[in-house]
Amino acid sequence: MKVDAEVKSRVLELHKIINEHSYNYHSLDNPTIEDSEYDAFFNELLELETKYPSLSYSYSPTQRVGSEPLEGFNKVDHLTPMLSLENAFNTKDLEDFNKRILERLISQTEVNFSCEPKLDGIAVNLIYKKGYLHQATTRGDGKIGEDITHNIRTVSSIPLSFRESKIKAPSLIEIRGEVFIDTKDFKEINNKAKFNSEKIFANPRNAAAGSLRQLDPRVAASRPLKFFAHGMGSIDFGKGTSPKTQKEVFESYASWGLPINPLAEQANDLNECISYFRKIEGLREQLPYEIDGVVFKVNSFKMQESLGQVSRAPRWAIARKFPAEVGSTKVKSISVQVGRVGSITPVAEFEPLNIGGVVVSHASIHNFDEIERLDVREGDTVQIKRAGDVIPQIIKVDLSKRKKDSHKVETPNTCPSCNSKLVKLESEAILRCNAGTNCPAQKTESIRHYVSRNALNIDGLGERIIELLVKKELISDFSDLYTLKKKDLLGLEGFAEKSASKLLTSIENSKETTLSRFIYALGIREVGEATALNLSLNFQHIDKFLLASKEELIEINDIGPIAADHIFNYLSKKGNQNQIKKLLKLGIQLQEVKIQSDNLFSSKVVVITGSFNNIARSQLKEELIRSGARVSSTVSSRTDYLIAGEKPGSKLKKALDLGIEVLEEDNVLRILKQ
Ligand code: IVH
Repeated sequence: MKVDAEVKSRVLELHKIINEHSYNYHSLDNPTIEDSEYDAFFNELLELETKYPSLSYSYSPTQRVGSEPLEGFNKVDHLTPMLSLENAFNTKDLEDFNKRILERLISQTEVNFSCEPKLDGIAVNLIYKKGYLHQATTRGDGKIGEDITHNIRTVSSIPLSFRESKIKAPSLIEIRGEVFIDTKDFKEINNKAKFNSEKIFANPRNAAAGSLRQLDPRVAASRPLKFFAHGMGSIDFGKGTSPKTQKEVFESYASWGLPINPLAEQANDLNECISYFRKIEGLREQLPYEIDGVVFKVNSFKMQESLGQVSRAPRWAIARKFPAEVGSTKVKSISVQVGRVGSITPVAEFEPLNIGGVVVSHASIHNFDEIERLDVREGDTVQIKRAGDVIPQIIKVDLSKRKKDSHKVETPNTCPSCNSKLVKLESEAILRCNAGTNCPAQKTESIRHYVSRNALNIDGLGERIIELLVKKELISDFSDLYTLKKKDLLGLEGFAEKSASKLLTSIENSKETTLSRFIYALGIREVGEATALNLSLNFQHIDKFLLASKEELIEINDIGPIAADHIFNYLSKKGNQNQIKKLLKLGIQLQEVKIQSDNLFSSKVVVITGSFNNIARSQLKEELIRSGARVSSTVSSRTDYLIAGEKPGSKLKKALDLGIEVLEEDNVLRILKQ
């Protein structure tokens, strides 16, 4: 049917009117028309869309719940990783944060901060292309999230298209923010759920998460989900200029119609940040939603870039958490856990209690000296503290409630799993079982680590199954996973044809991985994800890593002498080398480390000398490797560039003698950022 231009323009006008009122209502909390007037516009639009289906656009305000339930969630790579935040629990932690920043930004005298409440919700990533909502994902592991576009479209305050604004909509932008549920709405949801004998949520955060992790968008649509935008990932502004500060990000977002927390403020120094924290702490009880602290971010993006990040948290931001919450409960038992690398930790299991909205049922205690210090016993009534996402801690025993027949907890002499004699090094407070993977508990834990999400990511291999496989001697090291047969699994309790096939497929799929995941999966002491990534960037190939010398290891970003020792010892053991070789023979394929090739530094031999103001030397080395450079330690006629920082020493002289091009810090950082 040919559509009249007039009808089309009315439809578009109705979009604008409805979006505007929806923005006033949901984002500004300031409706300017009656609900009935709003409904009349909405119905008019619905009628036109029914009559002229070609005018029913996907970004129409009537299309928030359109799709059928999905079959499953698609995994999506974030264009820029979604980082987490380091925590500060007191003013001293904030002072240290400020000091670290000022030390790294030597040339800056003024550092401003964006201060924002830290909402206790669910982080989401919204991709808008040319101002239209294109895709929405969960944070996931920070690198890969799940597609929840169908649910996010139901959140009334998230625009399907930007409002008209003087600030041009970028070709693409990743808008990050928090989806949450107001405390009052959360109570209502639970009341209703109780009435219908449905699942009760422990806190508003879980209710928000539960609403977003639904395949059927009608569930999310029925929940009063709200949203505040608080950050930006990738941006492609085409010819326009992208925001230069967090403040400008907020201004752009607000102009496009995204809800921004009205309590966000700017601070000119640390003292103003501290006052902001006190102010928000005072307001906390009155706020309609739950917050667990405040976030401080260096305002300037240029400064943010030069500060960089450590592992998964930026150096330019910190979360000042509210003090821990405390509760009291009874200890049911105290047992002993054997860690992946043999550390023996006591674990107290207690009667579950709800502390600040989270149900906790156990706490690990650092070591047996701590048990002694607290004198905690089975049957005791204890005070438990929970600070944010930190593992709960026992702070004190209520001696007045202690039973007369209680017994002190004995420090074990032997490993509860393999019976080996436990040792305690002078330098360490913890007891250790040194049986390595001859100890079933360590074997199980190391395999659990190997299959975990950020390592080889093998789905369907939970603790119980691994324990069973180890007990039945079907696996004794990582490589045995790859020779498991369907009939082995079918013999185990809980496995059927389908689940066995599924597990074998996910084991097979895990064979294709990256060098950094693989190194992390090996479970070498002191080698976390960040270290594994650094190792992979520096060695680039597993064969080179296997031959690493202690000196080479110490030179790597963030690897100190202790970690270098552990890695070197690990690699010196023939059994470990053999296991790695066996895994490679069984078909583990390590993707090549991603190196850029369209850079000034690609395929060039670069030498670094001196010290740098805005980047750590080791980080500079990594960035250069990523850009395709070969970083060498001696200047020769084959050197292409010498990067000279302050106090450069003899290398500079040699480079000048040989006529080698010398680059300075600012130039190099600019080139690396291109
Ligand atoms: S910024 C690198 N700002 O806190 C910056 N996060 O603990 C990372 N959160 O995953 C996030 N309010 O879900 C930022 N105003 C705020 C926030 C905020 C809540 C959450 C967010 C993040 C988590 C990190």
